Amino acid sequence: MKIKVGIVGCGVVGTGTAKLLLENRDIIRKKTGIDFQLVKVADLNWNKKREYEIPQGIRTTNYKEVLENCDVVVELVGGLDFAKKLILEALEKGKHVVTANKHLLAMDGETLFTQAQKRNLRIGFEASVGGGIPVVKALREGLVGNHIKALYGILNGTTNYILTRMLEGGLSFEKALKEAKEKGYAEADPSLDIGGWDAAHKINILASLAFGKFFPFKEVYVEGIENINRLDVELGRELGYTVKLLAIAKKVNSEVEIRVHPTFIHSEEALAKVDGVYNAVMIEGDFVGKTMFYGKGAGSHPTASAVVSDIVETGKYILCNKGGEIYPVSWEKEEISLRKNFFSRYYLRFDVPDKPGVLASISRVLADFNISIAAVLQKEKVCQLAGKRNEPVIPLVILTHKAYEKDIQKALSKIKNLSVVIGEPVLIRVEEEQD
Ligand SMILES: NC(=O)c1ccc[n+]([C@@H]2O[C@H](COP(=O)([O-])OP(=O)(O)OC[C@H]3O[C@@H](n4cnc5c(N)ncnc54)[C@H](OP(=O)(O)O)[C@@H]3O)[C@@H](O)[C@H]2O)c1
Repeated sequence: MKIKVGIVGCGVVGTGTAKLLLENRDIIRKKTGIDFQLVKVADLNWNKKREYEIPQGIRTTNYKEVLENCDVVVELVGGLDFAKKLILEALEKGKHVVTANKHLLAMDGETLFTQAQKRNLRIGFEASVGGGIPVVKALREGLVGNHIKALYGILNGTTNYILTRMLEGGLSFEKALKEAKEKGYAEADPSLDIGGWDAAHKINILASLAFGKFFPFKEVYVEGIENINRLDVELGRELGYTVKLLAIAKKVNSEVEIRVHPTFIHSEEALAKVDGVYNAVMIEGDFVGKTMFYGKGAGSHPTASAVVSDIVETGKYILCNKGGEIYPVSWEKEEISLRKNFFSRYYLRFDVPDKPGVLASISRVLADFNISIAAVLQKEKVCQLAGKRNEPVIPLVILTHKAYEKDIQKALSKIKNLSVVIGEPVLIRVEEEQD
């Protein structure tokens, strides 16, 4: 049995995928009984240097040749407009699609998956989340019998590398970012990573698959790591916490929270120990309990491994006429809305003068909004000049018990107007294992 495969976009992932399909063709055939033949690879420029030489006979500059000649079209161009046009054209021609394009799926996945579902075609998207980690497959197959309660992910290697270096190497955000760029872990324009958008694309895709409804991306709460500073990383560590850019999707009754923001998690938790460019996803189901997936979240070879797993899955789907495909849209008929008023613990830091009555005036405002204090940390010796008045200040950290986000925000807007608080307060959400 033979399945013809074509790739559009022969860059980092496209080249890795072509290499894997050509070099490991035999082992895949032995394992599956299906011969996956790479028949066309399209790219606009065949003069640029690649890690692997694509055979002349299968190269083209015209993506339509891929659509004409293949059973499975692999979109590895990236970006929005052309990739969307390509996928829709492939589906119209009755071709199955595999893509790694998290940006496009998060923004427009509903249109694409609905078209595929109508035509009984498959869109494989394992490589769009967590690179080589088979987390999409886990949700679709291994955990299919569960109601998913929550997903927690470290889904962006660039930001995880930066936070790891700030914690372990004592680097400032700027120095850690510079180092990430030098090592090739951060793009020249790292704003999609640093701003939390890349992780948000990925958690939105996972949430749709886990909860059965496509959630509009613009409603997802996204906060990046650009304002995290070393002082908070260190003070958090003293309190027993590690800061991570955490992507969270959880079901609370008939509402789903999807959010990405810097988060303190207990340093003993497994996710806190995921360091450097590695990714991890913790999935909690009602029967399975907690499961964790860990591995390389990007790079040519790990991502190609995920793309090829989708190609093989699609081949099996074609040959066995399997059915039962789970599309990350609309399998849940119940109303589910996105919840904005999170219920969380909070780390708050205020720059204050070292004088009596400061803590009392801040805690009075917190009490007015039903926010109760779990711990206080005041560093006598750390002294800096801050605010318009250039006053000597010390950091006062308050760790709250669980509170509603809206109450916290209202309390903070009052607290920052107190004469004893200099400058902007710092807020970092705290997520506990039992949450
Ligand atoms: N890199 C990773 O580690 C990684 C991990 C997970 C997912 N992904 C996703 O995988 C996708 C591909 O990423 P990548 O890093 O491989 O990108 P890339 O290196 O920029 O590769 C994209 C390739 O597509 C070519 N291309 C652009 N327009 C084309 C067209 N109209 N027809 C044919 N080829 C065209 C580009 O050529 P030019 O360079 O000449 O424009 C380039 O060679 C993206 O959606 C990305 O988000 C990447």
